[in-house]
Amino acid sequence: MSYKELYDKVGSVIGWDFSDIAERTKTLGEKWDYVDLVKKYVNKEALLLDIGTGGGEILLKIAPFVKEAKGIDNSESMIKTAEKNLLKSRRSNVEFILADARSLPFQNESFDVVICRHSEFYPNEVSRVLKPGGIFITQQVGEKDKENIKKIFGRGQSFGEPVGALMNKYIKELKNSGFKILREDSYNAVEYYANMKDLIFLLKNTPIIPDFNIDKDSTFLREIEEKYKTKEGIKTNSYRFLIICKKLTA
Ligand SMILES: C[S@@+](CC[C@H](N)C(=O)[O-])C[C@H]1O[C@@H](n2cnc3c(N)ncnc32)[C@H](O)[C@@H]1O
Repeated sequence: MSYKELYDKVGSVIGWDFSDIAERTKTLGEKWDYVDLVKKYVNKEALLLDIGTGGGEILLKIAPFVKEAKGIDNSESMIKTAEKNLLKSRRSNVEFILADARSLPFQNESFDVVICRHSEFYPNEVSRVLKPGGIFITQQVGEKDKENIKKIFGRGQSFGEPVGALMNKYIKELKNSGFKILREDSYNAVEYYANMKDLIFLLKNTPIIPDFNIDKDSTFLREIEEKYKTKEGIKTNSYRFLIICKKLTA
């Protein structure tokens, strides 16, 4: 199953809402909180774009702190769920648009801040739609994420790729697209999922293990439970990296 097929499938069921299992998951060693961090770079005058917004869950938390927010996603089902979430939120300064990150449907220099969490983005397009001096913030999943689990499966998102490769690639591309890097950072936090049911929910609904199948992969699941079940829960790790950069004025 391609990433696009996975997101289309998941989008209509949960959007990108993992708050239920997140409440039960213990995480130790996160260096930043993404929403709090974005809030530091916006104000009530800011026009903000979120690339790969999913069900808009994160954008709707940031929207009260900006003038206008747009969220784009190339999955129709994600956008439908985002629109439902928007209705529930009763916010009037947010719009969700079906669009691809490769070709953003906005004029040059439309936004003060562009954000992108766990989706692909294209630095030239981000630069084009940002005003000079505008800020781009992205948090991404690093190669080492869920390392013990991917080792047991012998496959996984970025499995076996050198640590830092994706971050370095993005930094290079962003610099080439006229950005000055303000912060590059990463963390490797310890995570405990409350039980195997929560971990399986995660694996079924995310790209961590491509083509995860609860029946075909049952031996791997048993091995994870045997090796990593602790009093705190099922132990793994969350590896994230962050890039904050500024579009240089011409
Ligand atoms: C892992 S989810 C993250 C959702 C949200 N940003 C969050 O952090 O909660 C990735 C989202 O990016 C979207 N996406 C992936 N590639 C994209 C592209 N080329 N253009 C637009 N959206 C894309 C997917 O459809 C999915 O909704």
